[in-house]
Amino acid sequence: MRKMLMLEQITKGYGPATPVLSGVDLEVQPGESLAIVGESGCGKSTLLNIIGSLDQPDSGSVCVDGEDLLSLNEKELAAFRNRRVGFVFQLHHLLPQCTVLENVMVPSLIQSGSVKDRAVELLDRVGLSHRLDHRPGELSGGERQRVAVVRALINRPSLLLADEPTGALNEAGASELLDLLLELNRDEGLTLIMVTHSMPLAERLDRVVTLSNGALQ
Ligand SMILES: Nc1ncnc2c1ncn2[C@@H]1O[C@H](COP(=O)(O)OP(=O)(O)OP(=O)(O)O)[C@@H](O)[C@H]1O
Ligand SMILES: [Mg+2]
Repeated sequence: MRKMLMLEQITKGYGPATPVLSGVDLEVQPGESLAIVGESGCGKSTLLNIIGSLDQPDSGSVCVDGEDLLSLNEKELAAFRNRRVGFVFQLHHLLPQCTVLENVMVPSLIQSGSVKDRAVELLDRVGLSHRLDHRPGELSGGERQRVAVVRALINRPSLLLADEPTGALNEAGASELLDLLLELNRDEGLTLIMVTHSMPLAERLDRVVTLSNGALQ
């Protein structure tokens, strides 16, 4: 079966004084949920950004959903990011001047056709149908993260990359957000790769890998 992700011997450094990744190998199956843990500064975000093509490795190969990322040009990479991967970060990065519904529809503006129905349906699914016309500033932290998850899903990606998505939430909020991510993973076959500092949260995923000394253990 086709792998959702194949990383081979990924290296990345910020100049010779700061090697970060020094030979990362990883395979992820379609529909799997994987947690990446490791000490602060060990390179988790760098790795996630390489998987999502927001950053390039110095060497090695990255294959996502059958696509060899290093063979794509800028335009093809932009299309890949927009259609195939969804990103959720620690801070929601929602546009403060736009409503909840508008925020969720932003990624789809690049594509043709109306996606309002899907946006409304997904927001209903995450319990936010009564907040469609509010601004992010009027929501709780957990509600904002749920909007960020919906925005990440609007173009039906096959892979969701989440970098400390629960980092700004309290324990109950973090657990609820993970409930949502795991439900989407289970019900929609969405492959989930999540970076977290929390071992109890990490252990709720199918598999946990630790990044240490530039490689996965
Ligand atoms: N643009 C950059 N220029 C120089 N060094 C960088 C840059 N981005 C990251 N680094 C360094 O690379 C290392 C890995 O950073 P990264 O953000 O990937 O770590 P992390 O594991 O996500 O940390 P945290 O758990 O704190 O989020 C750190 O030492 C960081 O200082
Ligand atoms: Mg990080």
